[in-house]
Amino acid sequence: MTREDGRISSEELRSHQWYGTDGLRSFSHRARTRQLGYLPEEHLGKPVIAILNTWSDINPCHVHLRDRAQAVKRGVWQAGGFPLEFPVSTLSETFQKPTPMLYRNMLAMETEELLRSYPVDGAVLLGGCDKSTPALLMGAASVDLPTVFVPAGPMLPGHWRNEVLGSGTDMWKYWDDKRAGLIGDCEMGELENGLARSPGHCMTMGTASTLTAAAEALGVTVPGASSIPAVDSGHDRMAAQSGLRIVELVWQQRNLSSILTAEAYEDAVATVLALGGSTNAVIHLIAMAGRSGVKLTLDDFDRIARTVPVLANLRPGGKYLMEDFHFAGGLPGFLAGLTDVLHLDRPTVSYDTLREQLDGALVHNSDVIRDRDNPLAEEGGVAVLRGNLCPDGAVIKHIAAEPELLRHTGPAVVFENYREMQHSINDPALALTPDHVLVLRNAGPKGGPGMPEYGMLPIPDYLLKQGVRDMVRLSDARMSGTSYGACVLHIAPESYVGGPLALVRTGDLITLDVEARLLHLDVPDEELARRRAAWTPPPTRYERGYGALYHDQITQADQGCDFAFLARQGEVPDPYAG
Ligand code: FES
Ligand code: MG
Repeated sequence: MTREDGRISSEELRSHQWYGTDGLRSFSHRARTRQLGYLPEEHLGKPVIAILNTWSDINPCHVHLRDRAQAVKRGVWQAGGFPLEFPVSTLSETFQKPTPMLYRNMLAMETEELLRSYPVDGAVLLGGCDKSTPALLMGAASVDLPTVFVPAGPMLPGHWRNEVLGSGTDMWKYWDDKRAGLIGDCEMGELENGLARSPGHCMTMGTASTLTAAAEALGVTVPGASSIPAVDSGHDRMAAQSGLRIVELVWQQRNLSSILTAEAYEDAVATVLALGGSTNAVIHLIAMAGRSGVKLTLDDFDRIARTVPVLANLRPGGKYLMEDFHFAGGLPGFLAGLTDVLHLDRPTVSYDTLREQLDGALVHNSDVIRDRDNPLAEEGGVAVLRGNLCPDGAVIKHIAAEPELLRHTGPAVVFENYREMQHSINDPALALTPDHVLVLRNAGPKGGPGMPEYGMLPIPDYLLKQGVRDMVRLSDARMSGTSYGACVLHIAPESYVGGPLALVRTGDLITLDVEARLLHLDVPDEELARRRAAWTPPPTRYERGYGALYHDQITQADQGCDFAFLARQGEVPDPYAG
């Protein structure tokens, strides 16, 4: 029974079923906790806080999280909770092949089942490298315990010969310079040392920074958490604060669903768009919202994009890096400039209202975080396209493209898959011109598989040498949040399942018109019907294993690429029943 102050008693803790009853099971759980080395007075009657840690030796973005979990524990102990750390799957954007996107839903499943099956009253989730944030929050949303997210934090800015480097973004840039013959192996060796200088996730407004900012905008982090550099002492303090906070949320029974409302997701979309954030956020937020029972669609992104300008001057679309953003006021300062489009009366993990949370938030550098009358772009950073080539939609980050390409008609040159594209893109026999539209297929959720970040197709060497730095490119793939260019992405349905992208032939004219939100294949319907009749589906790649489950269950990009059996709403029995 909830007490008058709105807090529950220790007998109402979920973990009480494991620890507090008279039966043999409780006796066994207590005996085994003695085996772990804890005294009864250290944990009985206290909220059990699971700290889900995506730390790994192979994950440079999370390598500091082993230490950071200690700071979370410190906070939990001090608030009168009982912290227990759980290692969970690590999703390293750099190392995991073909792409960690193949495993986002696996981490989401692991998160959900682990929180459900153990004596957990509340959860602190540690992650940040690209897919980790959505994976952890998707799983946690499906269990709906009180939850706080601890973002891994951006790495320090890169440096090379007095230049500031952004991870990802400058890697592509200098790789193109090397291909164009402007720099050599010596410079590349120095760049190897300078691009990524410390633990932490990519410090551009790539996918990691976009999704951790979205988490903060949703209200599931403590205020200001998402931009603190990973190695700043403030990151330790933020982790401790998250530990302190989660215990209180358990006593108040403020479950994740009370934070992750439809209004919160709308605000996260507005935030991502005003940040000029990664296109990957479109897929992830749709999937996360789905787990919260909130219907978020591509059209919501396009609608909201028209109401918010881009205010963050961050690479790849702008100039600065995450550390600059942090010192300019971080997300609280940034959101303070968007209060007219935000839902200020919704709760966060720290405050009853977002309004209170943003009270006093200031911007300290108006070139990094722009005023409304001096935006980086008039409209949000992502446009949703429709047309006969993408009946279920496609997206383009138009602010990171050459403006003259945003309205373009040109002949297609089609690559059947990524390998073929890599093999032939530099072949002069293709005789590509800047007017050509590069088309890559079989790179979607099923076809990739895992929808790899192949969407920024390389410009052929011979065009690079002529100074060409952007072309219209189309695919059913994703693109790294640190990439740029006139790349139409997430074409749905994907070619592998017979979407119209499968029917394009080299030489067909394709029109991109971002202002009209149009992607059109200039081929008569009758001809497309003929091509469709002649099309045969490619063979299934996985005969067994996780890949086979993935293939059976993955939804298309416009649906968020969740597994169908995880995305649907429905009851799951309490594991302790019986
Ligand atoms: Fe981990 Fe970029 S590689 S965030
Ligand atoms: Mg990335």
